[in-house]
Amino acid sequence: MTSRKKCKAPRGTHDIFGMKAFGMSLMELKAKEIFRRFGFEEIRTPIFEESCLFMRSIGQSSDIVEKEMYIFEDRKGRKLALRPEGTAALVRALIEHKLDISNPSGKFFYSGEMFRYERPQFGRYRQFYQIGAEFFGNSSPAADVEIIVLAQDLLASLGVTEVKLHINSLGCQNCRPTFKYALTKYFNSKQDLCKDCLRRLEKNPLRLLDCKIDSDKFIKIPQLLKFLCKDCEDNFNTVQSLLKRIGKNYKIDGRLVRGLDYYTRTVFEIHSNAIGSRNVLAAGGRYDSLVKELGGQDTPAVGFALGSERVLFEAEKSGFFSIFKSPEKIFIAIADQTLFGEAFSFAIKRAREGLKNNTDFSIYGPINRKSLRFQLKFANKIKASKTIIFAKSEFENGKVLVKNMKTKTQAEILITDL
Ligand code: HAM
Repeated sequence: MTSRKKCKAPRGTHDIFGMKAFGMSLMELKAKEIFRRFGFEEIRTPIFEESCLFMRSIGQSSDIVEKEMYIFEDRKGRKLALRPEGTAALVRALIEHKLDISNPSGKFFYSGEMFRYERPQFGRYRQFYQIGAEFFGNSSPAADVEIIVLAQDLLASLGVTEVKLHINSLGCQNCRPTFKYALTKYFNSKQDLCKDCLRRLEKNPLRLLDCKIDSDKFIKIPQLLKFLCKDCEDNFNTVQSLLKRIGKNYKIDGRLVRGLDYYTRTVFEIHSNAIGSRNVLAAGGRYDSLVKELGGQDTPAVGFALGSERVLFEAEKSGFFSIFKSPEKIFIAIADQTLFGEAFSFAIKRAREGLKNNTDFSIYGPINRKSLRFQLKFANKIKASKTIIFAKSEFENGKVLVKNMKTKTQAEILITDL
């Protein structure tokens, strides 16, 4: 016998409806508008990929690959993963389709669901939405700043302006090993590392800087910025001077290392600065070796992604959505059952074409085999502003009754005038 227990949305997932669904769509529209202005083209990739793609790009020792990927085998035994982020999949697609990613045409954006098996909490889900943009073929610090500006402009277009930009440089393959060595030496002398950090110390000491348990415990940790080679230092200085030039405030955060291993040089996070919020809304950085590592030509790249749910929450808090009114609701009723067909075709026609003098409305009804009383009650329930009633004698004269649901007054109107 089948169980009658109600099925629920899986832990860490959520259904999006009402104003939230509207907000999500609006956010995607705004993003498309802004991305196009900066010359970015849309790209859509599958929500699952071969799992090795993420292992090679995000890094075997990252939390995402070690603990958070949804991996499964298909019926032919292929190892697949629900995408935990968009960058690696996009790079895979660009290489596969030999898309032109040389300067200045390599600009792409995407939006969609991502999946991470994280411990769910407010602002952290197992299925969440991201909107992201990636800029290929340009190694100039100006491209880093363009991506940061793009991210902040998008947030601002949704009313999210109380933000703080954190930046850091992770160096390159020339200077990072010296820093890793210094870091390993420093942490090797510490006794009380958590289980995760002990493991990270061997595989990827940079990740220790990001540990939620240990990171605040240690002082005088070697500072990454002090280990940068001349090129990386010049690069980071230019990023800062360009940010200053366009009037962007920022905070240098020497411990900002990010959870994905593909980054080189500039990394950044945009934090919400609003009261009661500690969320990272958007994040990104440069990843100059990823395209080559995944089998493409040596191509520099920089990008970002924002967490749609987190941004939506901040946008709602800032009152951004209160400027949008829901469309006026108009209910079509019948006083006589024989007029159902007429009322129905009127409703369909008007929903398609619109009403004179009103383009922002939703049409409801008619409801068959229900009394007029029932229909008017329903119109009140859905908060219709007016009800158009098809009644026999008025209809014979080409008219309908239009009832104002607020004032309860009604008038005869020619159908052709509606
Ligand atoms: P990320 O920092 O892992 O970067 O994710 C970007 C944003 O997605 C975060 O700042 C956060 O707002 C949101 N996010 C991440 N995990 C969750 C979650 N479990 N629930 C809700 N929101 C979440 C990336 O994914 C990189 N691909 C960004 C990038 C693009 N770097 C270069 N290009």
